[in-house]
Amino acid sequence: MADLSLTFLGHSAFQIRIGRFEILIDPFITGNPSATVSADSLNPTHIILTHGHGDHLGDAEMIAKRTGALVIAPFEVVTYLSERGCNGWEMSTGGARDFEFGRVKFTIAHHGSGGPGGYSMGTACGVLLMIAGKTIYHAGDTALFYDMKLLGERHPMDVALLPIGDNFTMGIEDAAYAVELLKPKLTIPIHYNTFPPIQVDVNEFSRLVVAAGFETLILNPGQSLTL
Ligand code: NI
Ligand code: MN
Repeated sequence: MADLSLTFLGHSAFQIRIGRFEILIDPFITGNPSATVSADSLNPTHIILTHGHGDHLGDAEMIAKRTGALVIAPFEVVTYLSERGCNGWEMSTGGARDFEFGRVKFTIAHHGSGGPGGYSMGTACGVLLMIAGKTIYHAGDTALFYDMKLLGERHPMDVALLPIGDNFTMGIEDAAYAVELLKPKLTIPIHYNTFPPIQVDVNEFSRLVVAAGFETLILNPGQSLTL
């Protein structure tokens, strides 16, 4: 089976490559101070969105229109993008579906999802990706919630991508506790240091996670991990 690679694009954005497929998650590139690529350089086959906030929706509309990529997202987010000419597949919390590249399951997240101009974007979600025998959990934006224990039991995780930036999401202490509930093999911190309100000490997060007996990997924007 082809190698599965995961590239951090900054903030909460990732590019996943598997065989002939390229999947972007929450492609906030333009206006993202931590981005190291341009939105024009990305040519995904699929785009997955956790919710409708601008720092997650990002360049999805522009990239989807240019490439024809299928946007997989919560129902209302897809309604918004379909009205603007994008190709979408609606899903919602708790639902899973097999796509050509692998399986996608939307999970709960405790967070808002207001869109541009007050447009309702439905419910904010996290997403589980089951690709090439690996399970990746992108928590989206969320508070700590005890059902993370259930997610970890139901879906043993190879990698968990967890927001740690505080203010809008879990901070480092709650995110470190989330690792204990989820029990992933590896945790990559996201959604921190992009903007002043979410400045945290990522090394302190790593220290807390390692002290609890788990592994972390800090990816700088542009860096990749092969699974
Ligand atoms: Ni958000
Ligand atoms: Mn966010």
